Amino acid sequence: MPDIETTGPRFAPPGRGSAATRRAVVAGTCAAGLTALAAGCAGGVRGPREGGEDLMAAAEVPLGGGTVLDEQGVVVCQPTEGEYRGYSTTCTHEGCPVDAVIDGYIFCPCHGSQFRIEDGEVIGGPAQRALPAVGLVVENGRVRLA
Ligand code: FES
Repeated sequence: MPDIETTGPRFAPPGRGSAATRRAVVAGTCAAGLTALAAGCAGGVRGPREGGEDLMAAAEVPLGGGTVLDEQGVVVCQPTEGEYRGYSTTCTHEGCPVDAVIDGYIFCPCHGSQFRIEDGEVIGGPAQRALPAVGLVVENGRVRLA
C-alpha cells in the first residue's frame, strides 16, 4: 500500500503505529479501497445506495468494532451485541474514505479524524460533523441496507 500524504494533526491510536499493522487492518476490510485511497479524497464519494442491498453476515461484524465496506461506501458497526449501526465511509472533513475501525473508533487516514461507532460523532481530528448514518436492517443473519 502506498504511503498517504497527510497534513494537519496526526493521531496514532494503538495498532496504527506501523505501516505493516495498518496494512493488516486494511487488507481484511477494504482491499478494494486501496485504489480509492491512492486516488485521493474523491475516492470517498459514492453514488446512491440501493435499499435491500446485501452487505455482509451479521456474525462477521466485530462486536465493539466494525467493518469498512469500501465498495458499498458503508461502515457496518456493532457497538453492543446485536445492535448494528451503519455510516457513510465519506469523511465529513474533506471527503476521504475512512479506512479502518480500531478500538471502537472509525478512522480517516487523510488527516486523522476519528468517529465513534455508537453514533458516528467526531471524537478527534479536523472533522466537525458526524459521519452520516446509513440505515441497516438485519434479517436471517444478514446485514442489508434499509
Ligand atoms: S478527509 Fe480530512 S480527516 Fe478525513
